[in-house]
Amino acid sequence: MLFKQQALLRQKLLVLGSLAIGSVLYLVARVGTLDRLQPTCPIEGRFTDPDQIPLRTLQFKRGLLRKLCKGNASREQTHRQSLVQQLPRAIIIGVRKGGTRALLEMLNLHPAVVKASQEIHFFDDDENYARGIEWYRGEMPFSFPHQITIEKSPAYFITEEVPERIFKMNSSIKLLVTVREPTTRAVSDYTQVLEGKERKNKTYHKFEKLAINTNTCEVNTKYKAVQTSIYTKHLERWLKYFPVEQFHVVDGDRLITDPLPELQMVERFLNLPARIGQYNLYFNATRGFYCLRFNIVFNKCLAGSKGRIHPEVDPSVVTKLQRFFHPFNQKFYQITGRTFNWP
Ligand code: A3P
Repeated sequence: MLFKQQALLRQKLLVLGSLAIGSVLYLVARVGTLDRLQPTCPIEGRFTDPDQIPLRTLQFKRGLLRKLCKGNASREQTHRQSLVQQLPRAIIIGVRKGGTRALLEMLNLHPAVVKASQEIHFFDDDENYARGIEWYRGEMPFSFPHQITIEKSPAYFITEEVPERIFKMNSSIKLLVTVREPTTRAVSDYTQVLEGKERKNKTYHKFEKLAINTNTCEVNTKYKAVQTSIYTKHLERWLKYFPVEQFHVVDGDRLITDPLPELQMVERFLNLPARIGQYNLYFNATRGFYCLRFNIVFNKCLAGSKGRIHPEVDPSVVTKLQRFFHPFNQKFYQITGRTFNWP
């Protein structure tokens, strides 16, 4: 009887011991994650994008961080004092559907980069712009002075007033533009709008009907998705304010298939030490896209709204659009010094 009780007790102790060791290991891994993600305690800036982090993880991180902060008050005070909301030193200005979210999230893997989670729309929205630069700063996440803040608002690229406004804020700012093959981008743009209409139970025209003028059978240059894909037209407007060296063009198609070399080029452009590695990116076969790995515990894919299935487009319309974009593309290559294999 006594022997049985002793055995039971030993078993219980073994289970409790394993649980304790497991918890400690788990906590160590988590703390590692949090340090890697955000070396600061006021965490709101980093986790203002609840779409992309499961709620439970979010709550856990906040709770744990608060506990960590409490246990290290003097270090925390020092940290708090050096935290600032900085104006962006680089902006992803576009292009819509060019992979702007993927680029921002992937750059955010870099320890010296802090992203503004939401699209701020400061320079393209007159109401926001009227709120002034300090309002804009207030929309930025907290960061350490050595870190750089990056925001993305793809509407900037195509909005007339934006280059001058950004120039007035900072004439030496670095500008990132991620582009995709123009016809594919136009279809992606259409797909996003179509999905919005379907969500509201509204009907919408077929892509072909919007992209081609039915009277002339030529490309409909009034269609916004076509206009946005004439990259050179927009870039030329920007070049009235900024020298071409202040732009870096990202290959948005390669960002999908092989993101690391593109990110490494951006690191160099931003004068950042090379910190993003193959380890930080893994291909998720279910999603069909690369996802982000911060460390052994924490990883994430982009929201489901990224990577929609495009509708099939009449091949003759595709060819017509590709021929239409061709001369504009040539000019774009010439100006930027970056050539793509677009048809
Ligand atoms: P599709 O939805 O047409 O596939 P943006 O963020 O500028 O709106 O761009 C969206 C596009 O980013 C998506 O277009 C998708 O192809 C592309 N993309 C690039 N890398 C991605 C990634 N890792 N996960 C999801 N989408 C990615």
